[in-house]
Amino acid sequence: MEELKGLILSGGKGTRLRPLTHTSAKQLVPVANKPVLFYGLEAMAAAGIKDVGIIVAPETGGEIRDAVGDGSDFGLNIEYIEQDAPSGLAHAVLTAEPFLGQSPFVMYLGDNLLRDGIVELVQSFRSESPDALILLTPVPDPESYGVAELNGDGGVARLVEKPAEPKTNLALVGVYMFTPAIFDAARSIEPSWRDELEITDAIQALVERGLRVDPHIVHGWWKDTGQVQDMLEANRLILDDLQERVDGEVIESRVEGRVVIEEGARLERATVRGPAIIGRGSRITDAYIGPYTAIGDDVRIEKAELEHSIVLSGSSVSDLAYRIEASLIGKNVSIRRGPALPKAYRFVVGDNADVQIL
Ligand code: G1P
Repeated sequence: MEELKGLILSGGKGTRLRPLTHTSAKQLVPVANKPVLFYGLEAMAAAGIKDVGIIVAPETGGEIRDAVGDGSDFGLNIEYIEQDAPSGLAHAVLTAEPFLGQSPFVMYLGDNLLRDGIVELVQSFRSESPDALILLTPVPDPESYGVAELNGDGGVARLVEKPAEPKTNLALVGVYMFTPAIFDAARSIEPSWRDELEITDAIQALVERGLRVDPHIVHGWWKDTGQVQDMLEANRLILDDLQERVDGEVIESRVEGRVVIEEGARLERATVRGPAIIGRGSRITDAYIGPYTAIGDDVRIEKAELEHSIVLSGSSVSDLAYRIEASLIGKNVSIRRGPALPKAYRFVVGDNADVQIL
């Protein structure tokens, strides 16, 4: 088999993660203080893949390039491929055809997280040599995904993108392995109701042509981090495997359970109950940070309590009467008690924000 290449999709508009995605690519939103996209790049490197193309959108491509660079930090050679419009995953594959050439490849959606990585799957793709290999996992809401129907002997019978009435609960995970047969299949399909060339339809075209599409059921967890609740859940799942490490300063504070305090962070009269991570340069003062919380770099938390939340870098939270939970707080946000009367809520909140108060 020719050398396997990697294709990571990091375009799209991220509409379901607004307002964060008004200013930043969804693939760079951090989970346990690391951009989602980096987990995919690490998974590629761990599977022995060297040459990786990243599909980017014109709006967010620059930011992705700045974050990932030439790939040397990951042990990868990275090329950027601009997709001029978000016209679907199969369109992205066609856009990458000159880069991929005749190589088989692993395609990884940049907002997906797969706990067990792809090492074994790549091995089985190499040794079995099917025309495509897809990953499936049972989900409670199959109508939100591509859905697979299997036939009696465990082969793929049919794939449908976001069916209103799913026939099974087996969702297509956003990691696929293809041979160049996918290009013709992608050229043969029509845009879907959402006006995208769906990769699900292209794989269905492979099935219809009698080509071999091997399904693999994923047993470790998988998350598509397209929505806020998924981000929080992914954060929780990654933090569950955290290795304790205290490199910052801990003054008159309690650190309980699996907690990472990065260098340059400082706790003062604080309690941090893990699993939780506190980023570089952050100050946690007279505050409580509860389980499943990721505090980014240079964040200030003072006289406040937070739990099961993600706070991005440069933000501050202070003087709150109630605990914050299940929240995703963007970059350079300030949440605080105001000094002025009348007693009132005062907000400066971006488009599509979601604020809940008692
Ligand atoms: C895409 C695919 C879908 C797949 C999902 C996995 O959905 O179209 O088949 O199940 O990724 O994350 P989208 O995120 O574009 O709605």
